Amino acid sequence: MKPEETEISKGRRDFLMKLSIGLGSLAAVAASIPVLGALFEPLLRQHQYAWRNVGKAADYKVGDAKLVKFQNADAKSWSGPTAYTAAWLRRDQGDTFIAFSANCTHLGCPVRWEQDAELFMCPCHGGVYYKDGTVAAGPPPKSLTQYQVRVKNGTIQVKTAPVPITDITA
Ligand code: FES
Repeated sequence: MKPEETEISKGRRDFLMKLSIGLGSLAAVAASIPVLGALFEPLLRQHQYAWRNVGKAADYKVGDAKLVKFQNADAKSWSGPTAYTAAWLRRDQGDTFIAFSANCTHLGCPVRWEQDAELFMCPCHGGVYYKDGTVAAGPPPKSLTQYQVRVKNGTIQVKTAPVPITDITA
């Protein structure tokens, strides 16, 4: 073997090794970006809130309760139907309204309002809530999430908020 060929082979080998290390490093950095983003995004995210119009106060008599749907504060353009949530809105007295999340605090099933019994019922595992949202029976670990409500110029507004659902593994 000639000495020049050995030099050329060594140079090519060094070049290919550096190239593969460089490309491997680039691939590792590219692959780690989404992982790091997923890990740290919850720490950096600020909860967003927004007031949403959900109807006219004049449409409710005292004691009336209706299911209202509204858009979440942090809805994305690609969120589709998941951009919306629902709450049970009830006129308690005068201009006082109260709104509870329609999601059960056990595993998130939609609860329904039973007017005659004045109870919220969850069909999934028999969860029952009193009219003030506190747990009456079944597995729900805590009261229904309550939204802030205000009436502005006759329009009822609900302040969106994240709804905490109990983790089944907790
Ligand atoms: S999800 Fe409502 S009781 Fe389980």
